[in-house]
Amino acid sequence: MSLYGYSLADTGTNCLCDLRSDTLTKPSPHMREVMSQAQVGDDVYGEDPTVNRLEQELAARLGKDAAVFFPTGTQSNLAAVMAHCGRGDEMIVGDRYHLFCDEAAGVSVLAGVSMNPASVSEDGGLDPDRIKAAIKVDDPHYARSRLLSLENTVGGQVVPLDRITAGVQVARDAGLAVHLDGARFFNAITALGCDAATLALPFDTVSICLSKGLGAPVGSVLVGPDELMRQIRRNRKILGGAMRQSGVLAAAGLFALEHHLPKLVEDHTRAAQLADTLRETGIGHVSSQTNMVFLTPAAEDHTRLIAHMAQAGVKIGGQSPAIRMVLHRDVDDEALGVAIRALRDFVPV
Ligand SMILES: Cc1ncc(COP(=O)(O)O)c(C=O)c1O
Repeated sequence: MSLYGYSLADTGTNCLCDLRSDTLTKPSPHMREVMSQAQVGDDVYGEDPTVNRLEQELAARLGKDAAVFFPTGTQSNLAAVMAHCGRGDEMIVGDRYHLFCDEAAGVSVLAGVSMNPASVSEDGGLDPDRIKAAIKVDDPHYARSRLLSLENTVGGQVVPLDRITAGVQVARDAGLAVHLDGARFFNAITALGCDAATLALPFDTVSICLSKGLGAPVGSVLVGPDELMRQIRRNRKILGGAMRQSGVLAAAGLFALEHHLPKLVEDHTRAAQLADTLRETGIGHVSSQTNMVFLTPAAEDHTRLIAHMAQAGVKIGGQSPAIRMVLHRDVDDEALGVAIRALRDFVPV
């Protein structure tokens, strides 16, 4: 077993429901058909009409000037940090945010930017006082604080708008730029009940992933102001992310925005259903917002539960102590039913 839970080979059981991540969605036949018919050109020449349409669409939705299509969220975040910071600069970032924990310290390795981690509050946000304390004075001994990088959603938690604006204000007062890792931006606005431009407003740049709950196979988009876009395109080239006839991929993103985005709310509803079931079973502590459910069973039950679910054809995350279960487009009511029945059958120690 790995961090990603059991593989099929571990159990010999057919997978009936895979709750490990919303990155596991596979493109539907309809999405594949649209991809195959996409109009394409060389995007490095700026001549891929489908990429251009996706970039314009997301820039417009988020109320920003422009956007750039990237292969991954990791690269999009990195290109944003490189646009805001130079070597020897520092960014303030939450100590459980993806950019700090799960992107192999790329901003330090490749861009010479140090990360100053601020402790994330229970609600997933950063307290203004902690941001203020993390910002360094301009002194030759210190790295220069240049950027505040936030995340929403954070491990499935939605950070409310007022928490964001309070933190951003502190950063602005100190002259810092502000970036949002919005890998699950659309889950956040679905839960907040606001439009995309409202959540994007406080930020200079926002990175959005199309390949998580939205269900495209590949792709992230970085949106921001015109004056940063030349540098962001250059950064993408430096990082090896400038693609050619990538309209076949952008077509999946456009399809996802039109057809899958309105259905994200169904993942949130199923997550709430799963969380309610788990609370009834008393297997452990349950927390859930948006499309993710976290269950902390007794230590003795952790591996037992994962193995029990795998035997029933349900894959769940291998994280510890809290096991993560993520709802996404490839888990319908029938698959959720399989998971719920298996959970009800589990006998804790
Ligand atoms: C919050 C967050 N940001 C960024 C990323 C990176 O995205 P990618 O896997 O496309 O590099 C992820 C991936 O899971 C993520 O969860």
